[in-house]
Order: sequence, then C-alpha cells, then structure tokens
Amino acid sequence: MKIGFLTSGGDCQGLNAALRGVAKTLFGAVPYVEIYGIQDGFAGLIDCNWRKMEQHEFSGILREGGTILGTSRQPFKTIRNFDDSKNTDRLTTMVRNYHKEYFDALVILGGNGTHKTAYALSQYGINIVTLPKTIDNDLYGTDYSFGFNSAVSKATDVLDTLHSTAASHGRIFVCELMGHKAGWVALYAGIAGGADVILIPEIPYSVDSVLEVIDKRNQSGKNFSIIAIAEGAITCEEAQQPKSERRVGDISPGMQLVRVLDEKLNQDVRLTIPGHFQRGGDPTPSDRVFCSRLGAMAGELVLQRKFGYMVALQGLSIGAVPLSEVAGKLKTVPLDSEILKQTRLLGISLGD
Ligand code: F6P
Repeated sequence: MKIGFLTSGGDCQGLNAALRGVAKTLFGAVPYVEIYGIQDGFAGLIDCNWRKMEQHEFSGILREGGTILGTSRQPFKTIRNFDDSKNTDRLTTMVRNYHKEYFDALVILGGNGTHKTAYALSQYGINIVTLPKTIDNDLYGTDYSFGFNSAVSKATDVLDTLHSTAASHGRIFVCELMGHKAGWVALYAGIAGGADVILIPEIPYSVDSVLEVIDKRNQSGKNFSIIAIAEGAITCEEAQQPKSERRVGDISPGMQLVRVLDEKLNQDVRLTIPGHFQRGGDPTPSDRVFCSRLGAMAGELVLQRKFGYMVALQGLSIGAVPLSEVAGKLKTVPLDSEILKQTRLLGISLGD
C-alpha cells in the first residue's frame, strides 16, 4: 500500500501526534505499507513534492508543535484556477499526480477549506481519509477538532495572567482571541480564564451592555474587568450592515472595542492580542490522546479501504463521517446550546 500524508491550512498543535497515530497504526498492521510525506499541503501534491518516509521519522514527535510535513493555505476557490505551466487546472493536476505516483490513498489533516478540496478530490475517485484539524473547532461533523483544546489552554493562560496586572492597576483588559467566524475559543477560554464578558460572532454585542457590566463591577468594589472578544465578534449595529461595510480599515474587533471603551470610560483600557501564540507550542495531553485516537481510527479506515470519510469525535467515541456531510459546512456556537445558557447562569455577560 502506498499512502500519501499531507497537512493543509493553518497549523495547530497535535498535527504531528495525529500523523504519528496514523503511521503507527499502518506500519504496525501491514508489512508492505509505504508512507509518502507530501510537503506543504496541497501545494506538494500539485508540484509532486513528496518523499518516502521511514518509520523512525514518526518517532519522538508526539509532543512537537507544528507539522513535520509543512503546510500552506491553498484556498478552495483557487483549485480550479488554470495553471499555465501545467496546462490544466490545479484540481486536475492533483488527480493526475496521484495516479502518476500510483498512490493507493491520501490521509489529509485539515480544517474547513481543506475538507472542501478533499471532498472535491474524492469526487474524482481519489481514496481519502481525513482528520479534523483546527483550533477554531468549527468543523462540522465532529464534536471537537484537534488543536482546539491546546489553543484554549494557551488563551486561558493569557487571560489568567492578565488578571493580576488588571487588578493591580484597576484596568479594563480586552483580550482578542482567534476562532475565525466561530466563538468557540473565546467562549471556552473566557469561561476557563474567568472573563467577565465574552463576545462571540454568534451573538452581536452592544457597547452599552459591556459598559453596564464594567459599571456594576466597579460599584461592587471590583475595579478591573476582563473582556474576551473573538476575532469575528461584531456589534449589534454592524450586524445590521452589509458585511463589506462592517469594519473600516485594519481595525480589529478588539481594537475597535478598546477605542470605544476608552472614549466612554474614566478608566484605563488595554488591549492584548495573543494571536498565533494560541496555535504554537506543544499539544495538551488531552489533544495528544485525541490525536492518537483519531490517527488510529484513520489508519484503520485505510486498512479497511473505507474511503471518503473524516474521522470524528461523536460523544465519547471516535467514528467516521462521510466527507459529503462535512465539506462546506460551518459549526458555530448554537444559540440554544447548553454552554451558552450555563455561561449566562455563571453571571458572565455575552454582551447582548
Ligand atoms: O483557522 C485557524 C486560524 O488561526 C484562525 O483562528 C485565524 O483567523 C487564522 O487561522 C489566521 O490565519 P493565518 O495563520 O493565515 O494568519
């Protein structure tokens, strides 16, 4: 069996742990398996940039951040672009290269964009098994994606750390967290890190409501507040506008909120943006276990020649979801979810 591995899209913690899990399962079960590492995601499949990997190369990487294969973003909307040098579109090039190399299957680790491309490739008859990777946790079909737990842990560290300096100075801290169009990272880290206000894209916020929280805290003798804001958060006013008109220039949601609070409050307001810090470093033990389980399941699917699936967490079990059910769908925080109800019960404001 000749299997190509590739990691695609933004990196996250746990990619190596997951690759190791698949490799261990395949090498352990079949003596004649060959694994090829495709470099830098779909770019490597387009440019035939791959190499045969030895079993030992998957050792000692369980806790390593990043990806030993490299990664790149190849937006789905560009995969049908015509490539002059190859005299065809990129999707066709990938299909051709797969057959030219006599691959039996591809194991693809990626998030939303990656799954659209993986599904398109599978529709061209390519044997594919995917693993759900993204700190944003916005992949449909799995309860969690790997990287999320590690990113939440990093973001929580930041919020924890801000508490002491916020309290010493009696300041308001706005901490802008990643998550793309979903509020999962801000919500989980906000709860774990004791934020007073959590602003997520799913719930447009009102500045007055945020000011009210700060005022109430000040009146009760707590002269500092911590606000966790997702990078995709929007105000109620913005929610009424067409998307193209929502934010002027390069002002991030966190910066925008800080400017408004600064104007309205007689109190210091500071902004912290941990950015890619949330995606770097070691995976948490929980992600290492999760990635290893997903990897084992992905390996098993390959061995069973059960293709066209994403391995996924379903309750307490690792299952498999058809790519057709995953591709092109976004999993945002449901407005009627228990976690939002509980967040409110805990007295955390969601800014509405
Ligand atoms: O999808 C993961 C993610 O980290 C998002 O949370 C964020 O919006 C984006 O990637 C950042 O992308 P880049 O690494 O290309 O700057």
